[in-house]
Amino acid sequence: MKEEIVQKSMEKLRLKPNLDYDKVVKSFKWDDIKSEIEFFEKGKLNAAYNAVDRHVKTWRKNKVALYWESDNDSKKFTFSELSILSNKFANVLKNLGVKKEDRVFILLPRIPSLYISFLGILKVGAIAGTMFSAFGPSGIKDRLADSTAKVLITDPELKKRVDEIRFELPSLETIIVVGDNVPKEKGVVSYNEEMNKASRNFDIEKTDPEDFSFMLYTSGTTGKSKGIVHAHYSILQQHITAKWVLDLHEEDVMWCTADPGWVTGIAYGILGSWSNGASLVVYEGRFDPAKWYSILEKYNVSIWYSAPTAIRMLMAAGNDILKKYDLSSLRYLCSVGEPLNPEAVKWSVEELGLPFHDNYWQTETGSIMVANYPLMPIKPGSMGKPIPGVRVAIVDDAGKELPIGKEGNLVIQPGWPSMMRQIWQNKEKYDSYFKGKWYFTGDRSSMDKDGYVWFVGRADDVIKTAGERVGPFEVESVLIEHPAVAEAGVIGVPDELRGEVIKAFLVLKPGNEPSEGLKEDIKKFVKTRLAGHAYPKDIDFIKTLPKTRSGKIMRRVLKARELGLPEGDLTTLEE
Ligand code: PRX
Repeated sequence: MKEEIVQKSMEKLRLKPNLDYDKVVKSFKWDDIKSEIEFFEKGKLNAAYNAVDRHVKTWRKNKVALYWESDNDSKKFTFSELSILSNKFANVLKNLGVKKEDRVFILLPRIPSLYISFLGILKVGAIAGTMFSAFGPSGIKDRLADSTAKVLITDPELKKRVDEIRFELPSLETIIVVGDNVPKEKGVVSYNEEMNKASRNFDIEKTDPEDFSFMLYTSGTTGKSKGIVHAHYSILQQHITAKWVLDLHEEDVMWCTADPGWVTGIAYGILGSWSNGASLVVYEGRFDPAKWYSILEKYNVSIWYSAPTAIRMLMAAGNDILKKYDLSSLRYLCSVGEPLNPEAVKWSVEELGLPFHDNYWQTETGSIMVANYPLMPIKPGSMGKPIPGVRVAIVDDAGKELPIGKEGNLVIQPGWPSMMRQIWQNKEKYDSYFKGKWYFTGDRSSMDKDGYVWFVGRADDVIKTAGERVGPFEVESVLIEHPAVAEAGVIGVPDELRGEVIKAFLVLKPGNEPSEGLKEDIKKFVKTRLAGHAYPKDIDFIKTLPKTRSGKIMRRVLKARELGLPEGDLTTLEE
């Protein structure tokens, strides 16, 4: 069968691409691009300075950095305004006694204060931790407790979830509350009041490139989610990939739809894109096809970075809605987070005149690793080729490279600038990613003769639902806290729209009868405790769970049974 290829043209792209891939890839060295970012004396580097403050010394001072929109309001912030506001916030933190390497967490919707406080945290040299606002009390507690966070920034509504668990967080000294109606409580201060008092001048911490800048909790197969810690130096790769892969030019307006509670929302929704001096759009509200198209139209978005589930939902909403908007400002589209189906690329070519460019990376890698580039032909279904400076390979379980076309583990040669520097206080877990000379991504892929990488699936039980990474163990742990549940096994089941949906198999405690009402109650239990996106959409009550003789749940057997596939090697099965 002839391979389908989407060719591209300069006419559609409108601007000369920043990267000539074939030329650069041959001789690239990371040292060659260090001049792209700004170091202080003695090689010191602060990512927030690079993202915002350095532009204030140039004509970009009055360029709009942030176009913010909610369902009933909109605001604009220039680079100069963001610089002053984040200076003020850095002073607020300093006045509260926050020091270098302290963990300061943010639990906010996508409002301007989220972006201002993130930058302010980096400016004091503290480590910024972001949490998606859909997290419930136990998801929040796990993160704040593991990181021993000292300060939390939140709003009055979300604070209610923190109040439920605050007694379990002895390290949490202060909660900064954004908005009106800030309760007068010990250890609670008002964002607005503190910002009004704070000086607009701040002497930015001259951090070392290796000093930690931000951390994000993400899920694996086992245990609770882990704190992936990144260094200030990651800005180098975030900057260059925003330039090469997202093709940001001075005149571009970019909308990265990701929330800063996830890595894309930090690396490209804040650091890498602003480092390029780009204007960013942030929409606070939820997904809605008409609203999304209206934002693209209103802000003349030219670069759009989104995710497959959103694209599939737009496709499902129908083209009549799309046709009502003038989307001619778009010139380049990118996608990340889960497999991008060839039909989605086809749809965007037909309806928007432009293909989505898939790219691949992880919370751990800190920035884009494999990508489709502006003028490079797209093979729909492929994630593209490794970025210059990054070597990926397909290997067997022993780390031996496999021939072209063979499926195996997708691995990366360590040493790229934005690689995680630590799993918070968990060296064993960090070390487990590395075998021989490779970093193991946990994904399975193959590579074709032209060097394009094709995603196959996860090598472990990690679930990707609507692009969000969920660990089965975390969901199981909350499920067994429900009074009716004795045991729980959780898997991802393929879903046309969301990639995967979460399914739970539950063994009930004696005296409980299976019912639809109980299912609903259990779903709500997980939704309100762990996270709005991590509850099982589907529940089956069963008599026993397949387990190994040592008592480990065999999720692979649950999955095979669910999908009607061979159950594989069952020699360790206890049943
Ligand atoms: O399984 C891969 C999948 O998402 C995982 C990383 O998830 P997370 O750390 O949440 O970061 C997502 C955004 C950077 C990967 O291990 N994944 C990511 N991008 C793709 C993908 N799967 C298929 N195609 C992609 N383009």
